[in-house]
Amino acid sequence: MNGVKSLETERLILRQWEPEDAGFVLDLYSRWEVQRFIGNPPQAMADRAQAEDRIRAWRAMDHPVHGVWAVGLKDQNILAGTLLLKDIPASGPLPLQPSGDTEIGWHFHPDFWGHGYATEAGRAVLDYAFASGLPKVVAVTAPANIASQKVCTQIGLRHQGETGRYYNMLCELFELRRAAT
Ligand SMILES: CC(C)(COP(=O)(O)OP(=O)(O)OC[C@H]1O[C@@H](n2cnc3c(N)ncnc32)[C@H](O)[C@@H]1OP(=O)(O)O)[C@@H](O)C(=O)NCCC(=O)NCCS
Repeated sequence: MNGVKSLETERLILRQWEPEDAGFVLDLYSRWEVQRFIGNPPQAMADRAQAEDRIRAWRAMDHPVHGVWAVGLKDQNILAGTLLLKDIPASGPLPLQPSGDTEIGWHFHPDFWGHGYATEAGRAVLDYAFASGLPKVVAVTAPANIASQKVCTQIGLRHQGETGRYYNMLCELFELRRAAT
């Protein structure tokens, strides 16, 4: 098992998911306001077994740079959300196959929206991705997901317009290439 590298920002700790985080994962992904813009079609998580499976899958990711982090608040020692850096599937026949591009994403609990945490955590993972040698990072959002689009631009991703390239969906595409040194 690979395990993600822990990251730290001013207010946040990003660490590996642990099996005992399943209660938080279920609370997060069983909420429609969190899940409504995720997946094709979006589907709220139904029970703790699904949360446990999700954590197992995240922990089993085996990639030198990619990972899925649990984001916690440093000062309160509580979890607030998820940060993802992973293969994004290309549109095509099911099951969808990896496109070769790397996607960044963020899923936060509504109790912690509106504090800039997604932006802070997203910036840390984007910096880590480029420092680790990835040449390009993309993000896709539903056209109506204004909050996520704002996070994308706040961390420096550039809006490329609409694309059908990924997930068999029409999405707003954001991307950034690593700066030449
Ligand atoms: C996307 C998400 C992580 C953003 O969380 P957040 O706590 O609002 O994020 P941040 O506070 O870091 O920044 C969001 C920015 O968007 C703004 N914003 C949020 N909702 C908005 C809306 N409906 N219209 C316009 N701006 C909005 C915020 O004011 C903030 O801007 P600011 O920093 O200038 O104040 C959160 O909404 C979420 O978890 N949604 C459910 C999961 C999801 O959809 N993930 C993305 C899938 S692509």
